[in-house]
Order: sequence, then structure tokens, then C-alpha cells
Amino acid sequence: MDLPPGPAAPAIWQTIAWMTRPGGFLRRVHARFGEPATIRTYWTEQPMVLFSSPDAVRAVFRLDPAVAPAGQSWEFVRPFAGPHSILLLDGEEHLHERRLMQGPFHGERMRSFAPMVADLARAELMSWRGRVVALERMRELTLEIILRVVFGASDDEEVAGLRRRIDDTLATVRSLPWVLAMAVVRRDLGPRSPWGRFRVAVERFDAMLFELLARQRAEPGRADDSMLGLLIAQRDEDGQVPSDQQLRDELVALLVGGHDSSAATLAWGFELLARHPAVQARLREGDPAYLDAVVKEVLRIRPALTIAPRLLREPVQIAGRTLPPGVQVAACIWLACRREDLWPQANRFWPERWLGQDAPPNPLSWIPFGGGVRRCVGAPFAEMEIREVLRVASGLTLRPARPDPERARRSMLVLVPHRGAEVLVDPSASPADTRTSPLVG
Ligand code: HEM
Repeated sequence: MDLPPGPAAPAIWQTIAWMTRPGGFLRRVHARFGEPATIRTYWTEQPMVLFSSPDAVRAVFRLDPAVAPAGQSWEFVRPFAGPHSILLLDGEEHLHERRLMQGPFHGERMRSFAPMVADLARAELMSWRGRVVALERMRELTLEIILRVVFGASDDEEVAGLRRRIDDTLATVRSLPWVLAMAVVRRDLGPRSPWGRFRVAVERFDAMLFELLARQRAEPGRADDSMLGLLIAQRDEDGQVPSDQQLRDELVALLVGGHDSSAATLAWGFELLARHPAVQARLREGDPAYLDAVVKEVLRIRPALTIAPRLLREPVQIAGRTLPPGVQVAACIWLACRREDLWPQANRFWPERWLGQDAPPNPLSWIPFGGGVRRCVGAPFAEMEIREVLRVASGLTLRPARPDPERARRSMLVLVPHRGAEVLVDPSASPADTRTSPLVG
């Protein structure tokens, strides 16, 4: 069975383009081969067929997980995420885990976390003066938010301890040599080898997490208003309480899924705002609907993840094309969110497109959180977090540090601004106050 056409360049070149200039690479593939197109990179063992039109995206999201599992695509995070991680499971096991994890993400709950997120954002943004590399700062902030709001870490010492362990682990996870070592060597050649360093970092991290769980179990009430408190209180259909291992894997899935993605999106938010003073000015007026439009537009024009892939186990038909087992099919988030035929002035950062009478385009073309049974479980949290941080940031006056806009490069799973979102912050302004906005969307 022939695969749809795609670049003839060797996989190594496609991988380099995929890593270093993912936006340009995807744009060129789409311009040259249209839809569907097949790319070959070392990102996945199999060739990947990309779709981006709403009907095809719907078909990908509706694929039966028994025929097209998604857990396989996260396989490389298994050594950190753990075998029970929602990221890796498929079918019934996945749905079961998803039901447990979705509980704490409901609307009312999200509203209750917003003031803490706004306070943490304010504490961070207070110090911003002159040149700031927003990505670095947002990685710190989103980690702090996860540690306090999700993990329930309450005092500064606990936060600092967890942060150190996580930094060690994430530093090894983020480096490309580590990924290659994982794929190729995956052998412990001593504590100084990439794999050995990674294993030691995970062991230390786990020890810290199990201590946190032990403290929470020993002193109920201690972090009841955190997500961990809610996850611990969960009972499955048989009334069973979650084990420490299960909770550990849930927390790590929230960390893996929620840290870099939110940090990248926020960094893009700063990069874009700095180049659009009129948007900053309107944001400062404090209209929650406009803030919501800005959040949606940042997620559209710079989605942190580029694909939502599924691995085919059987032949399937998508958009009239039969595809063989053993290939990856992906809803291409990046292309869907920027198709000129679906989005007027697709390359323009234009929050106003979300306001007014004109209905936003087909919802299947705004898919920064993926879709179907794998849609991002943390989406309500992410939207609340981005909204709160940008609302607090609306008190600042931002300018770009250099005239040329930043392009996207890949940092592990997510796309980040290639200079880290360098912005200049006017010293005379200060973050907006911490009153939270009504939750929209
Ligand atoms: C702007 C921020 C975020 C973006 C762009 C994003 C995007 C995504 C995408 C595209 C997927 C895969 C969906 C699919 O395959 O169809 C996903 C899955 C997931 N995300 Fe997010 N995410 C964000 C923030 C978060 C946050 C804050 C959390 C948790 C606190 C989180 C937790 C997860 C989890 C656990 C999954 C796996 C869901 C499953 O397999 O059922 N994400 N995310």
C-alpha cells in the first residue's frame, strides 16, 4: 500500500528540520505535497502521515483506540512517566485512568485555583525590568504553579527541594543527547552516562515524591485544596483508594503534560504581545472577553505541540485514503491552526478574530489541545493558568528586544521561541493587581 507523498530527503535531514525549524518545515511540506503528506523523522520509528483539514482531523480523533492507540507515541517518556501513566495507557485502562484524573479539572475547581496562580504570577512579574528572557522565567513560574497547585507543596523549603529534583530530571530529559541515548543505548553505563544520570535523577525524584505522599497521608487536610488532595481522595469504581505508585504516575503525567507546554505557550504570549502594542493596550482595559480572545489566539498561532499522533495497527481509511498498519497518522495541530483556507489572515496575531458576530472557524481547526478520547486532560487548567498570567502581565509595558520576530524551534516535545522570547520591560509599569477575572470559555 503506497503512502501519501512527502519529502524525499533522508530521515536525518527531515529530523533536523523538524527539530530546528519545525514551522518552516511543516509549511513547506504542506505547500509542496498538500494533504495528506508523509514525513520521515527519527521522532517516531514509523513514517508519519499528516492531516489538517477538519474532516480528516475528525476522522483521526475518532479512530478506535484498539486500531489506533496513542499511548505508543509517548513510549519514550515511559522511564520517567511510569508504567501506569495515562500517557502510555490505551483502551479501557486509559479511560479508567482518565476518569480518575479528570475530576479535579472541573470548572468550579479551576476557579478556586485561579487566585493562587495570579499571586504566583504577580510575585514573578514584579521583578521584571529591562531585558527578560520570558521562556526561562515561565519555566520557573509554571513549575512553581504545578508544585504548589498540583503537588500541594506548601512551604518554600518543600517547593525548593522538589524543584531541585525536578530540575535535575528535566535537564536530562530535555537534552537531545539523552533522547538519542535512550533510543540507541538505553544501557546503564555508570552514573555519569546519560542513561545512568537520568536513572539516578528519577530515583531521587521518586524518593522525594513518595515522602510528599507519606506526609499528605499522615496529615490529612494538609494539602486538601491541591490537586494531589483531590486525587488522593478519589475512589475507583470498586471503592479502591489510589496506591502511591498510581498517584506518583498521575503527578508525573501532570508534570510532563503541563509544565513545558504551558511555559512555551506563555513565552509565545510575551513574544507576541511585545510586538503588538495595540493588543497590550486593549488588554490593559481589563475586558475578560478580550483576554480570553488573546489566550485563544496565542494557542492558535503558536500551538505548543505540533501533532496529535496515533499508531495504526490495522488498515484505516481517512479522507478517502487507505493507510496501512505500522504508520503513524497525526492530526497536525500546527497546520490545522494556520491553514489559510480556514483562517482569514492566518499568519496574523489578531485576537479580534475571536470577538464579534463572525463565528470562529470550524472547531476542528482550533485544536491546540488535540482531541477525541486523548484530548488534553489539563486543558481547563492550562487555559486558566495562561489567562491569569497574561492578565497580571497586562500591567507591564513590553517591547521586543530585537526587530526580527522569533521563529519556532523544538525543545523536546514543545515548540519554543528560538531566542527564548526576549522582551524589554518598561521599568515604570508594574503587574496588574491580583483580582482574578471571571472564567470564560
Ligand atoms: C498550553 C498548554 C497545553 C497544551 C498546548 C497541551 C496540549 C496537549 C496535547 C496536544 C495533548 C495530546 C492530545 C491528543 O493526543 O489528542 C495533551 C495531552 C495531555 N495533557 Fe496537555 N497541554 C497543555 C497543558 C497541560 C496541563 C497544564 C496539564 C496538566 C496539569 C496537561 C496534561 C495533559 C495530559 C495528562 C495529557 C494526556 C491525556 C491522555 O492521554 O488522555 N496538559 N496536551
